[in-house]
Amino acid sequence: MSARRGVTNSRGAVAPGQMTRREFVRLAGFGAAAGLVPALAGCDSALGNSSWALRSATKTFLSAFQPLKAGAGDKNILFGAAAGQWALQADPAFATQIATHAGLLVPENELKWETVEPQPDTFNFTPGDWLADFATQHGQKFRGHTLVWHQQLPTWAGVGVTGAEAAQQLTNHIAKTVVHYAGRMHSWDVVNEAINPRDGRADYLRNTVWLQTIGPDYIDLAFRTAAAADPAAVLVYNDYGMEYDGSDADARRAGILQLLTRLKAAGTPVHALGIQAHLDPGITSFDAGKLVTFIRAVADLGLKIFITELDVIDQRLPADVATRDSEVAGVYAEFLGAALQDPAVTTVLTWGLSDRYTWLSNFRPRSDGLPVRPLPLDSSFQAKPALYAMLDAFQAAAPRPAS
Ligand code: G3I
Repeated sequence: MSARRGVTNSRGAVAPGQMTRREFVRLAGFGAAAGLVPALAGCDSALGNSSWALRSATKTFLSAFQPLKAGAGDKNILFGAAAGQWALQADPAFATQIATHAGLLVPENELKWETVEPQPDTFNFTPGDWLADFATQHGQKFRGHTLVWHQQLPTWAGVGVTGAEAAQQLTNHIAKTVVHYAGRMHSWDVVNEAINPRDGRADYLRNTVWLQTIGPDYIDLAFRTAAAADPAAVLVYNDYGMEYDGSDADARRAGILQLLTRLKAAGTPVHALGIQAHLDPGITSFDAGKLVTFIRAVADLGLKIFITELDVIDQRLPADVATRDSEVAGVYAEFLGAALQDPAVTTVLTWGLSDRYTWLSNFRPRSDGLPVRPLPLDSSFQAKPALYAMLDAFQAAAPRPAS
C-alpha cells in the first residue's frame, strides 16, 4: 500500500495515516466508481452483500479531516463522546483523542446509581469528579448519565420498601447527585429506558422497581427533583430502539411519544429526548421517513433531541475490514443524514470514540472472534470512513442557532 494514505476529500486533503479514497474504494472489494451506483442499484445479491455496502462502498467523502467537535461546531451542533475514567487515566493517547474530538464528555458508568450511592445515603463522587475535572481541563462540557435506570442499581434500591420510602430513596439520590454537580452539568439523563411495550401496559411503561413501588409518577418526580437541584441543566429522557423500522420500533416510538406528551401536559420539566442510536444494520431495515416524522413530533412538543449513544453494531457485517468499515460508515451516513435534517437535533454523542474501548467488545462480540469496529476511530486511533461520514453529515446539516 502507498506510503501516502488518507481518505481524500473534495479539497484534496489526506488525513495522516489514512487510505486515499481510491484505495478505500478498491479495498472495499468492489472496484466500483460512483457512476456504477445506478447500474448496480437493486443488484445487492450480485455483490453478495446488503444495500448498506453498495451505498457506502461507492461513497466519496467531501470533508477534510478535522476533529469531530469542529465539524459539528461549524453548524452549532455539539459533538461529544462517552468514556470511562479508567481508560482515560491509563491511556494518555486515548485521553488526547477524547480531548481532540469531543466537545462534551459523558461518563460511561461512573455516574450510575451503583457507583454513586452504593450504600443508602453513602455517596461516592470520586470517579465522577475525576471526569468532571478532565472535562474542565480540556474545555469540554460535562454530561450526567444516568439518574434513574433499572440497571446498574445497588441491590438495596427500591427493595422491601413502601411507596413513600421508595420515593424518598429516589429523590434523595437525585437531589444529592444533581446538587453535587450543579453549575458544571450541561445535561442529565434523568430517566433512562423507562419504556418497554413488551411489558404489556397501555402506557408502555417498563415494569421496573420504581413503577412497582411509586407508580407511573416516579418519572415526573425524578424530573421535578432534578430541576429543583440544578435549574440550569438540560433534563433528558433517554431511550433506545426508536431508530429502525419494524413493529417493535413502531411500538417504542409510540410509547415514548405518549410518555413525553403526558410529561409535557403535566408541566414536568423535561427538556430533551435522548435517542441512544446503538445502530444494528444486521437486524432490520432503516426507514428515514419514520425517524424524521418521529423526531418532528417530539420537537413539536417543544423538546430538543440529542443523539446520545451512537455506534454501529458490526456483529453481522462481513469479516473483511475494508468492507466492514465501509458498511459501518454507510450506517452512520444514512442515520445522521436523516436525523440531522431536523434542527431540533442539536447534539450528537458517540458511545466511546475508538474501537480500542467499546462496550460492544463484551456485549456484542463477533462469532468469528474478530475485534469489533463500531466507532469513528480504529483501535490505533486512526480515522475510519465512519469519521468522514460523520463530518459529511455535519457539513450537510443546516446551521443551528448559536446557543
Ligand atoms: O465495575 C465492575 C468492576 O469492578 C469489575 O471488575 C468488572 C469485571 O467485568 O466489571 C465492572 O462492571 C462493569 C461495568 O460496565 C464497568 O466497566 C459491568 O460488568 C458491565 O456490565 C458494565 O457494562 C456497562 C453497561 O452499560 C451496563 O449495562 C457498559 O460499560 C456501558 O457501556 C453500558 O452503557 C449502556 C448505557 O448506560 C445505557 N444505554 C445502553 C448502553 C450500552 O449497554
